[in-house]
Amino acid sequence: MSIHFDEKTGRLTLSTAHSCYQMKADEDGFLWHLYYGKSAGAQDFSYQYVRSDVGFSGQPYERKADRSFSLDTIPQEYPSFGVGDYRLSGLEVTNADGSRCADFRYVSHEIRPDKYTLPGLPSSYGEAETLVVTLREVASPLLLRLYYGVFEEADVITRAAEVVNEGEGTIVLDRVSSASLDLPFGKWDLVHFYGRHCMERQFGRAPIGHYITEISSGRGASSHQHNPFVILCDREANEDLGDCYGMMLAYSGNFEAKAERDQMDSVRLTMGVASKGFSWNLAPGESFFTPEAILCHAEGFTELSHRYHRFIRHNVTRGKWHLAHRPVLVNSWEAAYFDLEEERLVTLAKEAAELGIELFVLDDGWFQHRKDDNAGLGDWFCTPDRLPNGLSSLISRVRATGLAFGIWIEPEMVNEDSDLYRAHPDWVLSVPGRKPTVGRNQLVLDFSRKEVVDAIFEAIAKLIRENEISYIKWDMNRSLADVYSRVLPVEKQGEVGHRYVLGVYDLLNRLTSTFPDVLFEGCAGGGGRFDAGMLSYVPQIWCSDDSDAIPRLRIQHGTSFGYPVSTMGAHVSAVPNHQTGRTTPLDTRGVVAMSGAFGYELDLAKLSKAEKEEIREQVRTFKQDEELIHGGLYYRLNNPFHKEGYVAWEFVSEDRGKALVSLVVDVVQANTIPLHIRLKGLDPEAVYRIEEDEGKYTGAALMYGGYSFPRVLGDYPSVQLHLERV
Ligand code: GLA
Repeated sequence: MSIHFDEKTGRLTLSTAHSCYQMKADEDGFLWHLYYGKSAGAQDFSYQYVRSDVGFSGQPYERKADRSFSLDTIPQEYPSFGVGDYRLSGLEVTNADGSRCADFRYVSHEIRPDKYTLPGLPSSYGEAETLVVTLREVASPLLLRLYYGVFEEADVITRAAEVVNEGEGTIVLDRVSSASLDLPFGKWDLVHFYGRHCMERQFGRAPIGHYITEISSGRGASSHQHNPFVILCDREANEDLGDCYGMMLAYSGNFEAKAERDQMDSVRLTMGVASKGFSWNLAPGESFFTPEAILCHAEGFTELSHRYHRFIRHNVTRGKWHLAHRPVLVNSWEAAYFDLEEERLVTLAKEAAELGIELFVLDDGWFQHRKDDNAGLGDWFCTPDRLPNGLSSLISRVRATGLAFGIWIEPEMVNEDSDLYRAHPDWVLSVPGRKPTVGRNQLVLDFSRKEVVDAIFEAIAKLIRENEISYIKWDMNRSLADVYSRVLPVEKQGEVGHRYVLGVYDLLNRLTSTFPDVLFEGCAGGGGRFDAGMLSYVPQIWCSDDSDAIPRLRIQHGTSFGYPVSTMGAHVSAVPNHQTGRTTPLDTRGVVAMSGAFGYELDLAKLSKAEKEEIREQVRTFKQDEELIHGGLYYRLNNPFHKEGYVAWEFVSEDRGKALVSLVVDVVQANTIPLHIRLKGLDPEAVYRIEEDEGKYTGAALMYGGYSFPRVLGDYPSVQLHLERV
């Protein structure tokens, strides 16, 4: 039993292998958050909250004589706005009478032996128990259900909320968080992952001050700029030590994470669908479900990452491919862009087959009138203007080389120059009387409308049914603007952004369940929608449009805090690199790309014999090490943001029998200080043989003493060390 109710005190304790979460409803029904952190036995944490006078913070009416109690100062499970807690709120509503307050009191709770699900939204799965706490608003006919999924083994607690309107009039939800977490004591930093196109998920860390810090997206997708994953960590925390609390939202649209340090120095973190531009009309009898927040507590960033990695691999990603060997692919984009000529593509496939590559991906440019990015989106069929012999000829010739065939689509988008737009100009998000904002010459389809999603489902399903397609790359290349639906009434326009995401999930769900054998890879102009929501449908996502191995070191490093390497699409591309003009050795490009869902994206026919031989060797190495890389424990050996001149990371198998250390030197110096690194995660007692230097070392020596790397010279050299227990 991971959920325990103490009848005598009313305390609810959620226990995982190494953490504990505690709450309690008091005699007036206020739901206190008592504790989240390291396991602490049967301790009741109420003792921490004995207060004297709390100054000018107000009291609920029934507690008016007790100046030691205020909603403004107690830690709460799910605070709401308007009744005396002036900190961040989980919930903000406009009641039927226009009032803006909500005062929820505990009614009951229920413990279920399995994991809850969320209608229309992705949610994690697996062995877990569910706690549902029901609260009722004191005056308005609103019910609030708080869901907790307790994954004991995985050390994860998931949260979501449901608001139900049991009254006769419409109630407007202005803000509904998935979770709110109070840390009443301590000094905390917020770790977040910021960026831009071609520079996603850069590591950021800053102390939480006496103001509200907001990490959010209003771009319609979770975005390149911010990621729906944050870590609250002790100011002293590092990879190995210090309390770390992760909060990750399984959501792919506008989100917000807000953190505030209040007057009492206590910190509150809330996360959920962004409130900017959002409002939801809850009609009588209706329910609103929030997306799921995935919470984890660990000691140090490494342990936190390990827990998230396992959880995402085993409890978020699903289907035939999530733990399976991922085919090494070659993608046509940086190899040929829009220059898709059948002979050239077949040559690429033949070259790839000879090198051990397993999947050919036909990227953008294959469908009607798509000779550049001005036309064609929405018409998901091939015409002779693109491939004179048709798609089927190309597919059968590619498949004849022994490769599987995959294809690129961007189902949420449309160009004005397309049959789809000419037939349905009102199917796009746009405001009547205004010219819509364009991005990459394209408009966004109104996925809040079922008939639009149905039509796109039919088109893509036809494409897959009529062709032997084993893989789909699902792209999304612009942010949303003019978020307005032609079919919703005025008062429901604040729902469009969220309804759009529900439409995307509906389409993903229908396509992935209708075609369970197809491997889907997500993409949004690179990594602009890299989140646990998408990962519930696709096991891998193209990590960034920057394929240069050097900036990729930072991108993949940042991504690795929350997401396992098996989810990060990473390819070896040409030099000079098309995004940066930088030239890196093929070896280094291979080392970086194989720390991900591995592939190639360059014209193989242009390579020398020696380069092809090297690629053959890389593919062989990856296949041999894939289980260790994708299924092993990932250790960041340093932080590329600290500019030490090198970046190193390590994979260790779960049984600690094998390890792979990768190192890239990004600043080579003359008369250099030896590069000495302490390895991690090994068995201290065991002896390991390092294949590359044929030496034998104890795990303890390599971890506590360290390893001196051979000196490497040239531009951006790299080293890999294979360790095996003897
Ligand atoms: C986006 C993707 C690229 C490629 C192009 C095609 O930028 O991230 O990988 O598919 O679109 O237009």
